[in-house]
Amino acid sequence: MHTSEYKNMFENEHKYWWYVALHTLILKTLIKQKINSNAKIIDAGCGTGGLLEFLTQKGYSNLQGFDYSIDAVNFCKKRGLDYCFQQDLNTWDPNQKYDVIISSDVLYHKNIIDDKKVLNKFKNALNPGGLLILNLPAFEILKRKHDIVVETKKRYTIKSLNATVKNIGLTKLSITYRLPILFVFIVISKVIENITKKENKSDLDSISTLTNKLLLKMNILENNLLLRGFKFPFGTSIFVIYKNN
Ligand SMILES: C[S@@+](CC[C@H](N)C(=O)[O-])C[C@H]1O[C@@H](n2cnc3c(N)ncnc32)[C@H](O)[C@@H]1O
Repeated sequence: MHTSEYKNMFENEHKYWWYVALHTLILKTLIKQKINSNAKIIDAGCGTGGLLEFLTQKGYSNLQGFDYSIDAVNFCKKRGLDYCFQQDLNTWDPNQKYDVIISSDVLYHKNIIDDKKVLNKFKNALNPGGLLILNLPAFEILKRKHDIVVETKKRYTIKSLNATVKNIGLTKLSITYRLPILFVFIVISKVIENITKKENKSDLDSISTLTNKLLLKMNILENNLLLRGFKFPFGTSIFVIYKNN
């Protein structure tokens, strides 16, 4: 990823609605799945450590994280997350087992050589009954300039993800699209971008504090629906929870 994007992430992870809503959904998923505060949890492709810092604040104490980017790991260290280390998922060979693996918006990345191999690694690194929580970008038609900045190789559908995970030995507990309203917004803005040929920019372009608050409120409501088992038929992301058999 472009170095400036890690700085953007580091500075915005605790306030930008997109991150706050996702981190809250992950926390509530851990609580709903009765993952206790001593559970061994790893964030694979942890970026600049915002989720790990948030989970620490919420009482989770047995955390690890890694990212292939030294820039990202250095930002984690800046947060005091000394347990974060540099590691490429393609060559990750864990010598321990985890109760939960979280990997949020990583498998899609152009530096992931074979996502099925990585999913197999996740399965092998989980304790029996352990959970794998993934968030992934959805639908190729949503590919836009932001995907260049975050180096997207592919976007998923539930169908394509199901096909990739087949026969790995992970049982799906829940799978759904997220952010359906953003989906509609992006489709419309793609049409506008195509007409106006706007410059390549990050999605963290400044929005007003009020807009950020409103979007966050809307997404927390959406999270609550998802946590009650509601499924959206489309969205900009896929959120999935697997259990190791
Ligand atoms: C969009 S960011 C997501 C970061 C974080 N998980 C989050 O949700 O905010 C994608 C992350 O995947 C990391 N990444 C990409 N390829 C990787 C690989 N092969 N091994 C480990 N991390 C990788 C990038 O460095 C980047 O931090």
